[in-house]
Amino acid sequence: MAPPRSRPRRVPALIVHGGAGATPTDGREELREGVRRAVLAGWHLLAEGGRALDAVEAAVRALEDHPRFNAGQGSVLTARGTVEMDASIMEGDRLRCGAVAAVSRVSNPVTLARRVMEDTPHVLLVADGAHAFAREVGVPEIDPATLVTERQRARLAAAGARGTVGAVALDRHGTAAAATSTGGISGKRPGRVGDSALVGCGTYADSTLGAASCTGDGEAIIRVVLARRALDYLKEADDPHYAAKVAVDLLVEEGRGGGGLILVDWRGRMAYAHSTPLMPVALMSPALAEPELPF
Ligand code: GLY
Repeated sequence: MAPPRSRPRRVPALIVHGGAGATPTDGREELREGVRRAVLAGWHLLAEGGRALDAVEAAVRALEDHPRFNAGQGSVLTARGTVEMDASIMEGDRLRCGAVAAVSRVSNPVTLARRVMEDTPHVLLVADGAHAFAREVGVPEIDPATLVTERQRARLAAAGARGTVGAVALDRHGTAAAATSTGGISGKRPGRVGDSALVGCGTYADSTLGAASCTGDGEAIIRVVLARRALDYLKEADDPHYAAKVAVDLLVEEGRGGGGLILVDWRGRMAYAHSTPLMPVALMSPALAEPELPF
């Protein structure tokens, strides 16, 4: 869809996160390489004048394909030892959005979420209904067993884990977009759906304000509708760093959970905040020769 003609050109910006659940001792170089590669996958499109929506999808796909992150190929397991993934995507010009929940037969849930947005009148499809839709529109079907990795089997046996991946972007046309994807929480009850499938909670974009993608305790994020609330703080304060910090305070104090989020505002200013020890992020803008990896 063509952007509104009246809007002045903007400086593009892209920020990605690899989840707020990593521990500082846990293979930091691999995390850095993963988020760097993801931000570049989106940046190649944005820098050429491409759409924010394409950039966030490309960035999240790169993270879903990387076994180190809790999404797609690296998804954590349910209590039954299966994979059930959630994802959502949103473009902020007309509040168009799409999402999938509890899917196990696709490699890239974020792309299926985008197909829901573009090819159906619905916002959210779940489980077998989402799989049937994927078959209808030609999204390749995979054997769910290929998503079950030894690393996640060990993790399930050891303890719960949280984390998610996401990206937010602003393009030259002033369109904001956000995408989020996750395997959820390790050991979750089959059928549990977290914030990453819920527009307003894990993901939100409104081009008049900006875009947000969240990570952390899904139930806590849902309780405070975190992504949308972060954009409300942005509207009040016109300061993305302040908005990100206050949103994380809200998550901890009222949501009673931990996590983090990334933000971009309508001018292309980027920010992030987290309550956990580590949240891998990577930022890219025309002012940067190389991705910035502040962790
Ligand atoms: N934030 C990811 C989840 O709780 O599912």
